[in-house]
Amino acid sequence: MDQAYRALLARHDGEDRWLLLQTLLTGPPRRALYGMIGMPPGGRLLDVGTGFGPLAVELAGATGGTAVGVDVDVDRLRQAVALRDLVRASGWGPAGARAGAGGTSFAAGDATALPFPDGTFDAATIRFVLQYFPEPGATLAEMARVLRPGGAICVIDVEDGMSIVHPEPPAPLARLRAAFAELQRARGGDRNVGRKVPGLLDQAGFTVTAVLVMPQAAYGPSSPSDVDRTFLFDRFSLAADEMVARGLLTEADVRAGLRVLSDDELPPRTTIEGHVAVIGRRRP
Ligand SMILES: C[S@@+](CC[C@H](N)C(=O)[O-])C[C@H]1O[C@@H](n2cnc3c(N)ncnc32)[C@H](O)[C@@H]1O
Repeated sequence: MDQAYRALLARHDGEDRWLLLQTLLTGPPRRALYGMIGMPPGGRLLDVGTGFGPLAVELAGATGGTAVGVDVDVDRLRQAVALRDLVRASGWGPAGARAGAGGTSFAAGDATALPFPDGTFDAATIRFVLQYFPEPGATLAEMARVLRPGGAICVIDVEDGMSIVHPEPPAPLARLRAAFAELQRARGGDRNVGRKVPGLLDQAGFTVTAVLVMPQAAYGPSSPSDVDRTFLFDRFSLAADEMVARGLLTEADVRAGLRVLSDDELPPRTTIEGHVAVIGRRRP
């Protein structure tokens, strides 16, 4: 599958390239989860806020089921279709991935008003989406509605309280990171949503069966061409004007932070980034 993400990355020059880089960066912990979600073999899966659709295609492939990926961004959905067709035609990845691509479709729709009747799906996933929402509980309640009783849910999201870098990054980069988190808060999002997901699921009518931390940890030097650096550079660059407009940083601060990412070889460091994955079942 990673070959397909790289192939799409090579020809995709949209400003959301960072999302494909993120898909590559988070492959191993994402795939480690699939056996734990409790999607029945041959079941129907819904992936909300699907982006380029990696969870939809990979999970349908892993379970021999079908998947629908829903997103509000129709341009991105076109890329998701292109990626799915690439996997289907290329012969890349395990046979299951090709079959999963064959069983995956995409639909435009809003997470808070999903375009499906009650009880349509056996399982539902939502990854890296709730962190942008002022009312994540409303989306979880809507996901409960379209799941059958006993249907499985898996929510994966960020929790900045589990983000550790040692030694500390250079000050201009640390300032840029902090301003980016502040921007997400100012837009109504929450980069500490991970710790809140279990309680929100409970309130939305789910029994929480597992709360997992998916750490991505590494030690080594850091070069400008590393995927994690390119990913951060793209994300921060996109948000630069808004950070300045909101008075979170000066233009000079932004330039200094981006320069660290694009120019500096950093000495070996330990990075630990924890994402929270919460699995549950819809109560009858
Ligand atoms: C960070 S991306 C995550 C994509 C994908 N889940 C993944 O893990 O690669 C967040 C996605 O949520 C979508 N999104 C944002 N608001 C939404 C809404 N109200 N309803 C459906 N999708 C939404 C965005 O268009 C974007 O594709």
